[in-house]
Amino acid sequence: CTAKDQTSIPTRATLSSVSSESEKKAVGEAAALLADGVATLGLGTGSTVTYLLHALAARGCKARCVATSVATEELGRSLGLFIEPFDALSQLDLAIDGADQIDPDFWVIKGGGGAHTREKIVANAAQRFVVIADHSKMVEKLSSPLPLEIFSFGLEATLAHIRKIGPVTLREVSKSPDGGVIADYHGTLENPYALGALLHAIPGVVDHGLFAPSLISDVLVAQGEKVTRLTH
Ligand code: 5RP
Repeated sequence: CTAKDQTSIPTRATLSSVSSESEKKAVGEAAALLADGVATLGLGTGSTVTYLLHALAARGCKARCVATSVATEELGRSLGLFIEPFDALSQLDLAIDGADQIDPDFWVIKGGGGAHTREKIVANAAQRFVVIADHSKMVEKLSSPLPLEIFSFGLEATLAHIRKIGPVTLREVSKSPDGGVIADYHGTLENPYALGALLHAIPGVVDHGLFAPSLISDVLVAQGEKVTRLTH
């Protein structure tokens, strides 16, 4: 499926350089409007989501929220959002999260912050999953690195299997809240579907940062002060 919208998808090559920070703020604020009246809400991770959290709090969001990272949980709570553990809710009305790359078919790479496993669980639980991004995230083709989360048990053995597909490096960051080691795959991303399946088939790979188009309901992308909603 190819993204269809009255506005064509902007790419790095076709857009002038504008402040990504102001775009993140604009798209975070636009996304907060989608949460009006929503009962259960999944909150992603990252700097774009930080703007979303502030905007939700400013709008007096009363939703029961689940957070995809400790950082989101702590900031959300400090802003007065109702964050609860993700163990009682089986479904969410809406989830909103940032992205590292979005291609024209709505394949998305996430995990720049190493939170992609939780982010994918939350996205998959949501009836509607909205990706928010500044225009720099729109790409013609996905490229590595692709974030991975790997079990620490048997780490070297798992890495050896991943290396049969392509190069992989360990990220020098703390383990995930679930004890997973964060790594990055540096091989080709020509066929995201096939690559995702190969990585999933390796015992010890907890998850990768490829989000399939079927997970994504809409993309909100900011270009300058304009926020465009892309659907597919
Ligand atoms: C964290 C993520 C983030 O959503 C992604 O890295 C985008 O972050 P930012 O909004 O800071 O650019 O996937 O794991």
